[in-house]
Amino acid sequence: MIAGDSLAQLPRIGDQTVDAVVTDPPYGIDFQGADWDGRVIRNAAQHASGERLSAGEAFQQWTGLWAGECLRILKPGGHLLAFGAPRTVHRLAAGVEDAGFELRDTLMWLYGTGMPKSRRLPGGQGTQLKPAYEPIILARRPPDGAVGRNIARHGTGALNVDACRVNDRYPAHLVLTHTPLCDEDSCHPSCPVPLIDDSAHARGTRAAQRMSRLFYCPKASRAERNAGCDHLPARPLDLFPNAHPTNRQPASAANDHPTVKPLDLMRWLVRLATPPGGMVLDPFCGSGSTGAAAVLEQRRFAGIERDPNYQRIARARIAHWATNEAGERDGHP
Ligand SMILES: C[S@@+](CC[C@H](N)C(=O)[O-])C[C@H]1O[C@@H](n2cnc3c(N)ncnc32)[C@H](O)[C@@H]1O
Ligand SMILES: [Zn+2]
Repeated sequence: MIAGDSLAQLPRIGDQTVDAVVTDPPYGIDFQGADWDGRVIRNAAQHASGERLSAGEAFQQWTGLWAGECLRILKPGGHLLAFGAPRTVHRLAAGVEDAGFELRDTLMWLYGTGMPKSRRLPGGQGTQLKPAYEPIILARRPPDGAVGRNIARHGTGALNVDACRVNDRYPAHLVLTHTPLCDEDSCHPSCPVPLIDDSAHARGTRAAQRMSRLFYCPKASRAERNAGCDHLPARPLDLFPNAHPTNRQPASAANDHPTVKPLDLMRWLVRLATPPGGMVLDPFCGSGSTGAAAVLEQRRFAGIERDPNYQRIARARIAHWATNEAGERDGHP
């Protein structure tokens, strides 16, 4: 774990030392009013370019700054996986591409359980739709010549398709999560899964997942978020600050990060993009989900995080999973 701002810390990492970058960077949407998702990005981009930039331009330029460093640090052929927000993913993709990466694909994580951040207006009107998916861009540092030669020289350049097969089928760029209201035998009407996965429709949910050709992962449970954090103080946690008062679920937890990613999803992404035993970098480490996934997948890990509270949580979670050899106990679904 490296403490500090990625734009300052990435230049200290050596050339071609990392096999994959798997990250969930700021979305550039002033997420829950967080500094790091708005003002800090605009200031850094403004400072670097010396120009007046729109919020979108600033996010794209700032993305280019960290992505350019990641390109240098990655081995040739090394992959970058980055989560985005539907509203700003075009700037993320353009920033990554302009930094010198090849865009290879966009994965989609479909969950259908988001809370609308819409304002209620009179006459049945609102200002936003309910979020039901997250895009994940897949990019690659251009290989040194032919891919086969690049793999022989650097170990990078390809995806670990066989290690990520789902019920023996070729992995697709779509990941599904049921709503919390679905049960073993049937999906709640609000669940998107039956619309997409006919095996789920015909046979009920969990049983059908064992037949499906699509990768399923549950959302991060409370136990999973907090595993390894018992010794840290509990803090107030409100995952849906914009929810209607009747739907509020105020709580407290040691891991109070607002955007914790599920370990199963992060493990699948790490496994897909990182050669066995390889080095994974997450320059926006948060509560350490990528790091926990990396140690569970027997990869090495380096993370950068600017917030001391999240650094502590990430260290605790990664240490927990690094010492939990079985990997499937305590707080893991
Ligand atoms: C979307 S969150 C990642 C959450 C992570 N996926 C998890 O599961 O906990 C982004 C994180 O990046 C951190 N961050 C934002 N800007 C940063 C910067 N310039 N340098 C280092 N960390 C930064 C924020 O503090 C936040 O924890
Ligand atoms: Zn369902």
